[in-house]
Amino acid sequence: MSDEIKKGLLGIVVDETEVSKVMPEINSLTYRGYAAQDLCAKCKFEEVAYLILNGELPTKKQLKKFEKEERKDRKLSKTLLDDIKKFPKKAHPMDVARTAVSIMGLEDKETKDNSPKANMRKVMRIFAKMPVALAAFYRARKGKKIISPQKNLSFSENFFHMCFGKVPNKEIVKAFDVSLILYAEHSFNVSTFTARTITSSLSDIHGAITGAIASLKGPLHGGANEEVMHMMNKIKKPENALKWINKALDNKDVVMGFGHRVYKSGDSRVPTMREYFGKVAKIKKDKKFEKIYDIVEKVMINRKNIYPNVDYPTGPTYHLMGFDTDFFTPIFVISRITGWSAHIIEQHAANKLIRPLASYRGSKHRKVLQLNQR
Ligand code: SDX
Repeated sequence: MSDEIKKGLLGIVVDETEVSKVMPEINSLTYRGYAAQDLCAKCKFEEVAYLILNGELPTKKQLKKFEKEERKDRKLSKTLLDDIKKFPKKAHPMDVARTAVSIMGLEDKETKDNSPKANMRKVMRIFAKMPVALAAFYRARKGKKIISPQKNLSFSENFFHMCFGKVPNKEIVKAFDVSLILYAEHSFNVSTFTARTITSSLSDIHGAITGAIASLKGPLHGGANEEVMHMMNKIKKPENALKWINKALDNKDVVMGFGHRVYKSGDSRVPTMREYFGKVAKIKKDKKFEKIYDIVEKVMINRKNIYPNVDYPTGPTYHLMGFDTDFFTPIFVISRITGWSAHIIEQHAANKLIRPLASYRGSKHRKVLQLNQR
């Protein structure tokens, strides 16, 4: 047996998938064969969620049924809602998301049933309830009255309505929808691989998504969109950006929102998200973050040849939309539930326990001494 170590599973192909294809060589990403950019231009988020989960774009009739189910499933149990009101106000909303899906698992009558049909019903419930749970916490921690979900609103509109008590104009909702489409799926990233690993022991979907949320929280993964905003807030104004970024690179700091394990010459999702960031900045009449964005990006490319990833433009976009910074990664969650779920279902359909090997480098074999001899 070879002891060659591929730390971080760098470059290792561990399974097959039909869900998405990341193509760094042509800077492209497809979901079930459709280019993500094309989906952003022609679809709303619910259509893409349907595609990722079911393998095909919906017809009008299928979309109507899907939306009806999602809207019906939004209601939280009284227990979950009461728990959310009691959660520590300073808790990170990613921990709220993780705990909420765990509680949903306690309550779901089909938790143990891993059949494809039961899994799809559970996915719909988690998908519909997660934004509602997060929006409820968004209000509860500010001491504000929790707003009920509204069945006449789309997935994105309802999230705005529940967080802010109003739905913004169509362009802002579209930009939010685009961010959800771009966040929805990205092959064997850390959180998806975590979900597949948990699933590989034939564990259930609530457990797999709980683990995936914990994995996404880290700043090297989804947590980077929050870190980008902290960085921009530290920079404060465009005039400071050049000095700040050069100093960070001189100090050999990791600059959040840049670099990627798979894309080495640019993340295929960035141009689309950058465009919508610009649109939101224009509507909000606030160009400050765009200016900081461009300066930092230019220096990162010129000095390090490292390009932005999708978390770089989403961070300031969500800020301009009015969301609290610690809600940026939870927004990633409400979208990525679709990708995780498709992978969990795929893993169940052709399962093999995921169990790699390790090269041991600890102490040599030793004799155990009795306690009084040590
Ligand atoms: C996401 O995998 C996915 O698909 C994830 C994702 C998805 O949709 O699921 O796309 C979402 O997680 C995006 C990534 C968000 N993370 C960040 O923005 C955090 C900052 N970026 C990095 O720390 C880093 O680029 C990673 C973690 C994203 C990738 O890490 P790798 O592949 O392990 O590469 P590395 O950290 O070993 O970097 C290689 C070199 C190093 O220099 P050397 O030691 O070789 O001289 O590039 C440098 C690094 O120091 N480098 C950076 C850098 N990223 C890489 N230097 C400064 N700032 C950075 N951001």
